[in-house]
Amino acid sequence: MPDGYDYLFKLLLIGDSGVGKSCLLLRFAEDAFTDSYLSTIGVDFKIRTIELEGRTVKLQIWDTAGQERFRTIAAAYYRGAHGIIMVYDVTDGETFSNVKGWMQEIERYASEGVKKLIIGNKSDLVEKKVVEYSLAKDFADTVSIPFIETSAKNSTNVEEAFSLLAKTIK
Ligand code: GTP
Ligand code: MG
Repeated sequence: MPDGYDYLFKLLLIGDSGVGKSCLLLRFAEDAFTDSYLSTIGVDFKIRTIELEGRTVKLQIWDTAGQERFRTIAAAYYRGAHGIIMVYDVTDGETFSNVKGWMQEIERYASEGVKKLIIGNKSDLVEKKVVEYSLAKDFADTVSIPFIETSAKNSTNVEEAFSLLAKTIK
C-alpha cells in the first residue's frame, strides 16, 4: 500500500475568521499552539496519520480562510472532501449563528454524502463563553450533525473531534 496506509481521508475546516481553525489543525498535526493570530490566506493543509480500529488512516486536512474575500478559493476544495468540520467560537455568538450559512456552503459546493461535524472551539475561555453547550447540541441534533466542544489551546477534545469525524467516514 502507498506510504503504508489503508485509507486516505480528505477533511476540510470551515467557519468564520478567528474561530480557531488553524489552531485546531496545528494542535492536531503538530501538538502546538500559538496565541498570535495569523489569519489564513487562501488555503493551507497539513497531514497526520492515525490508527482507527486497527487501520492506518492518513488524514489530509485542508484549512480554509474565514475571510469573505477568500470564499471562492475555499469553495473549490469542498468537492473533494470526505468530511467537513464547521467551527465556531463559543465566546462569539455570531460565529455560531453563521454555522447555518456554512451549512449552505456545504450544500452548494460539497459532494453528496459528505460527513459533517460541528465544533465549538475555545472551550477554555469559560468566563467569556456565550454559546451554551445545550443550545449548540440541540441545534446539532436538529440537523443530525455530530457536535463537540474543543480547546486548541489546552488540547481538550481535539484528538476526539478528528477521530470522531474520521470514524463516520469509514
Ligand atoms: P482565519 O484563518 O482568519 O479564518 O482564522 P482561524 O479560524 O484560522 O483562527 P486562528 O486559528 O488563527 O485563531 C484565531 C485566534 O484565536 C488566535 O489568536 C488564536 O490564538 C486564538 N485561539 C484559537 N483557538 C483557541 C482556543 O482553543 N482557545 C483560546 N483561548 N484561543 C484560541
Ligand atoms: Mg486560519
